[in-house]
Amino acid sequence: MDFTAQLQSYRQHVEQALREHLPKPGTPPARLHEAMRYSLEAGGKRLRPVLVLAAADLFGAPPRSADAAAVAIECVHTYSLIHDDLPCMDNDDLRRGRPTAHRQFDEATALLAGDALLTHAFWKLAVGYGHQSAVVVGLLAELGWAAGSQQLIGGQMEDLLAEKKAGVTAEQLRSIHLKKTAAMVAAALAMGGIVAQAKPADVDRLRQAGEHLGLAFQIIDDILDITQTSEQLGKTAGKDAAVQKATYPSIVGMEKSKKIATDLTNKAFEALKPFGPRAQALNALAEYLLKRDK
Ligand code: IPE
Ligand code: IPE
Ligand code: MG
Ligand code: MG
Ligand code: MG
Repeated sequence: MDFTAQLQSYRQHVEQALREHLPKPGTPPARLHEAMRYSLEAGGKRLRPVLVLAAADLFGAPPRSADAAAVAIECVHTYSLIHDDLPCMDNDDLRRGRPTAHRQFDEATALLAGDALLTHAFWKLAVGYGHQSAVVVGLLAELGWAAGSQQLIGGQMEDLLAEKKAGVTAEQLRSIHLKKTAAMVAAALAMGGIVAQAKPADVDRLRQAGEHLGLAFQIIDDILDITQTSEQLGKTAGKDAAVQKATYPSIVGMEKSKKIATDLTNKAFEALKPFGPRAQALNALAEYLLKRDK
């Protein structure tokens, strides 16, 4: 299968798993479940769940065994976007090509839908993998760490604190990006390995590759914020400059930013090298993430 078909197939698998693993529409309170599904079903690139599936496949995990882990990480990611868009955070009106959750519903509903997606993720892991004690503990620890106050949430805090602050260095920015973005990308790959009961050294290697990929991913996100339109991105373009956010393009310039993203992608390839041809799908994903235009 060529890469485009493979990516398409992974994405379709994710869409199906999301539909199956979320409370059915109409489940009371309907407004809450509608808001959870509204943000999730809007789509998005499904990067993190696709990485879970691809990493699990690398170790020959049984079909569908990674579904609950893939759903869990996409739930956490989507919650982080709903909250990231709130007026008290980035105050955005557009996400995944639709009005943001708080625009479509209201702030309280968006806040609760985010809370509920976050909680749902950990419940899904517990019931999905409870019969495999080492796997469930590994997954809970991985996602709990990546989504927590020293990673994703901590990075979001530091990102807000760095807004409008003069003199943010590239090194400080790298640390923010590691937390707010790369931690979840690293966790996605590691979770795929954990589901497949890969050796701890191999899970470490996946996590390492994911950190490089995640750092590259956020740099590209910052570049696209400048070069693309809101229509193309499905979210408000030009937002970072408008709030004077520290980004790689604003600190080191556009060309150097592209070079850093390319170097990081090469580091990810390097980390995946010991897996040989089995890492073909992951390598192709890394390449696509670097060259993406949305
Ligand atoms: C957006 O993530 C937030 C960042 C970490 C840059 P994505 O670009 O993966 O968003 P979706 O899931 O495709 O909407
Ligand atoms: C957000 O970064 C990263 C998250 C953890 C949600 P951004 O604020 O740059 O993400 P976008 O550009 O709104 O998607
Ligand atoms: Mg933000
Ligand atoms: Mg934002
Ligand atoms: Mg952005």
